[in-house]
Amino acid sequence: MIKIENLTKHFPGLDRPAVNKLSLEINEGEVCVLVGPSGCGKTTTMKMINRLHEPDEGEVYLNGKRASEMNQIDLRRGIGYVIQEIGLFPHMTIKENIATVPRELGWDRERINKRVRELLDLMGLDPEIYSDRRPAALSGGQRQRVGVARALAADPPVMLMDEPFAAVDPITRARLQNEFLRILDKMDKTIIFVTHDINEAIKMGDKIAVLREGELVQHSTPEELLDAPANEFVAQLVGRNRSIKRLHLIRVEDIIEEDADKYSVAAESGRKEIKDKLSESKVGALMVTDEQGCLLGRVDEQSLKKEGETAGELVDEIHDQVTADSTLNDSLSVMLESGEGYVPVVDEEKGFFRDIITLQDLLQEVRQG
Ligand SMILES: Nc1ncnc2c1ncn2[C@@H]1O[C@H](COP(=O)(O)OP(=O)(O)OP(=O)(O)O)[C@@H](O)[C@H]1O
Ligand SMILES: [Mg+2]
Repeated sequence: MIKIENLTKHFPGLDRPAVNKLSLEINEGEVCVLVGPSGCGKTTTMKMINRLHEPDEGEVYLNGKRASEMNQIDLRRGIGYVIQEIGLFPHMTIKENIATVPRELGWDRERINKRVRELLDLMGLDPEIYSDRRPAALSGGQRQRVGVARALAADPPVMLMDEPFAAVDPITRARLQNEFLRILDKMDKTIIFVTHDINEAIKMGDKIAVLREGELVQHSTPEELLDAPANEFVAQLVGRNRSIKRLHLIRVEDIIEEDADKYSVAAESGRKEIKDKLSESKVGALMVTDEQGCLLGRVDEQSLKKEGETAGELVDEIHDQVTADSTLNDSLSVMLESGEGYVPVVDEEKGFFRDIITLQDLLQEVRQG
C-alpha cells in the first residue's frame, strides 16, 4: 500500500540528514507507528509522504504509484492528515473545519452536514453543542478529536496521524485510543501514527518503526520489539518492566470469563439475595444492573447499612468502568485512579455489564508473561 524507499531529507543548519535513507513498507489496513525521540525525523517523514516536503532522495509509492508523479492536490485529498499541534483553523467553526476537504471536493450541503454530524458523534462530541463553536471554545482533548474528525471527513484510505492524542490526560487518552481502534476495525484504513510514547506505540501499532536521528533502527511487531529489541537504544526506549508493558497488548475481552451473573444483581433484587451473592463475590461488592443489563452502580456491606429494600434503592456509585476492548493497562490505570482492586467491564457497543476484572487477574497475566 505505502512503500517508502531510501527517503532522505536535509535541512539547512542541520549537520545530519533529518531523515536518512529510510525504507519502510506499510501493508494495506495496517497501523504503522513511528516512534522515537524528539527531532528523530517523524514529522519530516510524514510530510514527505503527502509532499508537504519534497525528499532530496528516494521515493514514496502509494499503491505502486510514485507520489512524486501524482498531482499534489489529489494526493493530499486521498490522505487524511492529523497535524501535530492539531492545526484547526481558528476563525472557522468546528463544522467548517471538519468540512474542509468535502467542500473542496464539491459535496452538496446536505451530504456535508450529515457527514459532520456522523463524525462528531463518532468522536463523542454532541453536534448540537459543538458544530457552531470555534476551536478556542474547546478543550485541548476536544480539539484533538476534531482534528481526527477533519482528517477522516472524506474517508481517505490513508491517514497520517502526528501525535493525535498528545494533549489529553491518560484516562481520556486511553478512551480515545480505544474508540479509535474500534473505528479502525470498521474502516480498514492504512495508518501511519506518530508518537514518542512507547506504550502508545505498543498499544496502537500492528507494526512499530523505531527511528533515531533520521534512521530506522527497528521495524517489527510490538511483540518482537518487547521480546527482541534490536540494540541498546531500542532496549532503553522499551525500558524495564517488559512484562508489565505486555499489559498494553492484551485486551480485557481476551481474559474475562463472562461472569456477569456471579458479580451482579438486578435492581429489583432484595436484601437476602444481595447478602447471599455478596458472600460469594471475591471483591466484596456486586454490580447493580437495570432490565437491559446496563450498570447502575454497585452494592457492598456498607450499602446494606442504608435504608431501602432493593438493590436499586441501596445502590452506590461506581468509580469507573472499562469497555471490553480496553487493554489490561487501561484497567490498571482505572484501578489505580479509583483505589479499588477491581473494575467492572462493559460491552463497548451496548454498555451491558460483562464481568469484573481484578488486580489479581492482572498480576496473573504479568507472571505468565
Ligand atoms: N523546516 C525545517 N527547517 C530546518 N530544520 C528542520 C525543519 N523541520 C524539521 N527540522 C529539523 O529536522 C529534524 C527532524 O525534525 P522532525 O520535526 O521531523 O522531528 P520529530 O521526530 O517529528 O520530533 P518531535 O517528536 O519533536 O515532533 C529536527 O532536528 C528539526 O529541527
Ligand atoms: Mg514531530
